[in-house]
Amino acid sequence: MFAVKYNPESQDRTALLLDIAKAHGSPTFVYDLDVISRNYRAYAEAMGEQHLICYAVKANANLDVLRHLVSLGSGFDIVSGGELMRVLRAGGDAGKVVFSGVGKTDQEIRFALGARIKCFNVESESELRRISMLAVEEGRVANISLRINPDVDAGTHPYISTGLKENKFGIPMEEARGLYALAGELHNLKVVGVDCHIGSQLTDLGPFNDALERVLALVDALQTDGIKLQHIDMGGGLGIAYNAERLPSKAAYIGIFRERIEALGMQLIIEPGRSLVAECGSLISEVICIKDTQGKRFVVADTAMNDNLRPALYGAEHRISVLQSQCREQPQLCDLVGPVCETADTLAKKIPLAVEEGDLLLMHDVGAYGFAMSSNYNARPRAAEVVIKGDEFSLARRRETFADMVACENMYWNQ
Ligand code: LLP
Repeated sequence: MFAVKYNPESQDRTALLLDIAKAHGSPTFVYDLDVISRNYRAYAEAMGEQHLICYAVKANANLDVLRHLVSLGSGFDIVSGGELMRVLRAGGDAGKVVFSGVGKTDQEIRFALGARIKCFNVESESELRRISMLAVEEGRVANISLRINPDVDAGTHPYISTGLKENKFGIPMEEARGLYALAGELHNLKVVGVDCHIGSQLTDLGPFNDALERVLALVDALQTDGIKLQHIDMGGGLGIAYNAERLPSKAAYIGIFRERIEALGMQLIIEPGRSLVAECGSLISEVICIKDTQGKRFVVADTAMNDNLRPALYGAEHRISVLQSQCREQPQLCDLVGPVCETADTLAKKIPLAVEEGDLLLMHDVGAYGFAMSSNYNARPRAAEVVIKGDEFSLARRRETFADMVACENMYWNQ
């Protein structure tokens, strides 16, 4: 798998990244698998063996990344049939897969039933009835958990906040007991758990604590109703330090849940995405144009909002560093932009850079929701993806070609 070898004595990532740029061009996402191992182990050690990490595939669904997580023993949190397909291709154990999401199609539910996944995280009465009906048809029993909306404010960007009453996610607390009772009556369902997910990029543990309190109150109420659950799934959401923010450790985060859930004899499940993979990724790009206009400098890169949508969509700030430069001048403030025809295609605002055309830049912490949210907007081929393990790298996904971009359209254009 790791075809190209780099000097194993060297700790210098710059040289390795330059080799990658030389071998695979720009723009290229690079994922350091050892960083994922480190993050995974930090969770695993804090959690203990009986508990389960279900990596949120949506953050980065590259097959080499998934295969690496399989090798670490990870389970998976999926939100589509496509994600289940990827997990199975990567050799993942369906018995460690939980299926989240507010809208699962019949086809996706049948696929998951056939694969015998660990659990469906159910978000409505309608979905509960549908899973029961399809399980009867397929001759299977579906393990289910109800995703509760605990109505807590995650204090994060509104687009990635999910645990408030007004959000589309989860079942309101007041309806939960009734739905658990209904689940007990419907055919071919086995009630095994409860779950919640309050949002993403949380930098404070308070909201997780509030969510746990509410989930535990529900577990308690269910016990008086004679319903005994096996697991509590607290979702994902722990943030990372994009710009040197202070963040609670993974151990502190797990510390909130572990003891109290163990005291009930239940299994703790978490669904981290970003906190496992964001820091492993950087995006190599090349400066293709420097444009000075009316006292303002725009550095135009060959990377754009189609490669990393996060700055345009959330105003996210990813650190930028210079990987290779011929420039001998002092850094000057500039906006780093892409070639896409939208003003939103600004990758970083007012950052000091000393670069010339042809120089190489690195955008940091793009291992989560980077390539995963990339698109062909402006008919731009999607970037290559490379993985590093130790001091070796290999191509995980080749850069898209023009042929790839028209492959799904009418054949008469393809002659
Ligand atoms: N579980 C469920 C049910 C989720 O909806 C999510 C993320 C996760 C787990 C993983 O959350 P994490 O640990 O990664 O925070 N595109 C956005 C993030 C969207 C998160 C959506 N749900 C971004 O780039 O910031």
